[in-house]
Amino acid sequence: MPKVIICKTDDEVAKKAAAIFAKQIRSKPDSVLGFATGSTPEKTYAELARLHKTEGLDFSKVRTFNLDEYWGLDGDHNQSYRYFMNDRLFKHINIKPWNTFVLDGTAVNPMLECKAFETKILAVGGVDIWLLGIGNNGHIAFNEPGSPVDSRTRLVSLTQSTIDANSDGRFFKNPADVPRCALSAGIGTVREARKIVLLATGSKKADAIAAALEGPFTPDCPASLLQDHKDCTFILDSAAASKLKKKY
Ligand code: F6R
Repeated sequence: MPKVIICKTDDEVAKKAAAIFAKQIRSKPDSVLGFATGSTPEKTYAELARLHKTEGLDFSKVRTFNLDEYWGLDGDHNQSYRYFMNDRLFKHINIKPWNTFVLDGTAVNPMLECKAFETKILAVGGVDIWLLGIGNNGHIAFNEPGSPVDSRTRLVSLTQSTIDANSDGRFFKNPADVPRCALSAGIGTVREARKIVLLATGSKKADAIAAALEGPFTPDCPASLLQDHKDCTFILDSAAASKLKKKY
């Protein structure tokens, strides 16, 4: 079962998550890191940028892979996940742009793009540690409920719940503006990471967190499919942990 760390605030969640990533980079400077986008990891990226600036945390040999990208958006679009990563993290650290891999949402052949992504992960020896968020419906990456445990990187459709969550003003203003599809690493792809760190903050995530940790192992809650991972840690704030019944 995942290890669970419950923090008082989302600032504390970010500090803990960034410390885990910093330790990883210091012990293996050419680490392969998996990243997520969305609101939840923003403070973690700010903390990693701070550690780079103030303590010289060195990203010069690090390679990164992102979970997903909206289908149809190019990397210059301000809602694309490539743009997000450049804006929130990459431009603030000394990572080499050619060592950052974000799926291309405008690829002519999505299947080839997804295959190339998986091949590249294998070529660099697999992901050392993957940072995840969780959707209100329990999704991880854009693996919506029902996604198989052995799913691979592919073109997926977003559920209405995800479209609504991403058009509440934080990102898109209007549900009609949210792309209906995305390229997403599969659950099988993510589960192959040697270490996984899932972050959740806020009460909207409380049901999904309870289902992921205390419900059955089922594709109905994709995050529950991390229950049997060898090295998985959930870092939660007290609001996201508020519906857990067990003591952690
Ligand atoms: C983003 C991703 C998604 C988000 C999830 C939570 O790359 O893969 O699974 O982690 O939708 O998003 P936020 O953090 O915005 O609540």
